[in-house]
Amino acid sequence: MSRSKPCFVANWKMHKTIDESDAFIRDLDQLLLESGDIHSRVIIAPPFTAMASIAPSLKWCKTEIGLSAQNVHFEEKGAYTGEISTGMLRDFGCAYVIIGHSERRNLFGESNEEVHQKLQAVRQAGMRPILCIGESLEERQSGLTWSILEKQLSIALGEGDSDDNLCENISEWMIAYEPVWAIGSGLTPTPDEVAGIHQQIQEFIASRFGNNLPPVLYGGSVSEKNIADFMKEVSIGGVLVGGASLAAESFHKIISLGMGAVKSRQSF
Ligand code: PGA
Repeated sequence: MSRSKPCFVANWKMHKTIDESDAFIRDLDQLLLESGDIHSRVIIAPPFTAMASIAPSLKWCKTEIGLSAQNVHFEEKGAYTGEISTGMLRDFGCAYVIIGHSERRNLFGESNEEVHQKLQAVRQAGMRPILCIGESLEERQSGLTWSILEKQLSIALGEGDSDDNLCENISEWMIAYEPVWAIGSGLTPTPDEVAGIHQQIQEFIASRFGNNLPPVLYGGSVSEKNIADFMKEVSIGGVLVGGASLAAESFHKIISLGMGAVKSRQSF
């Protein structure tokens, strides 16, 4: 089990202008300060266009809020119209990159091999990957969940690859288990089911890289209603939140309720 702070990652996807992003950060900083929920790791993944404006304001925030990209290209530079490199992200002080989100895989044809290349690029740039994996509804219904997750993990982490250093700092990454059918649907697996999958992910990583485990997050229709049930599970190290992270009040509520659940499990 990872001992890192509970993580709350807001994935804004293709939402928010610069002004809307700035207002969100101001509001969230204030809410976190007032509620004292500062023992969590809070990370915002805005659209690229809002990064230049958010990055300096995060430095002035009174609470600690990290910056993540939603995607990156694996090359450092070149003729890749519409793409962005790790160096460009680092210019903003961006420390994390979401890699392999199911929307990238399914809508933009990103393969497990590309996910692996992106992980290499992010590691070489000294940034932290938030690696997303998840099964489709069809795969789940055919009993293929673990074999799909295992394949995604194996290829992403470079099984048989000569780059032995890729996973050297894997405890600094995050792995997000996001069942595709749960994303944006209002449906979720039970916290018990998620805990079981998280254990399998942790065992997989421990068997290859020892017990220095990264936090494993859950993502898919996380809301104020279900966050406490998820965060009561010891193996759930945090959450990746889409729709419910778009309003500062609702994202803050998720953090507060999630931290409350973590505290209650610690007092047992
Ligand atoms: P959702 O998205 O919370 O809106 O389901 C989660 C995600 O895509 O990371």
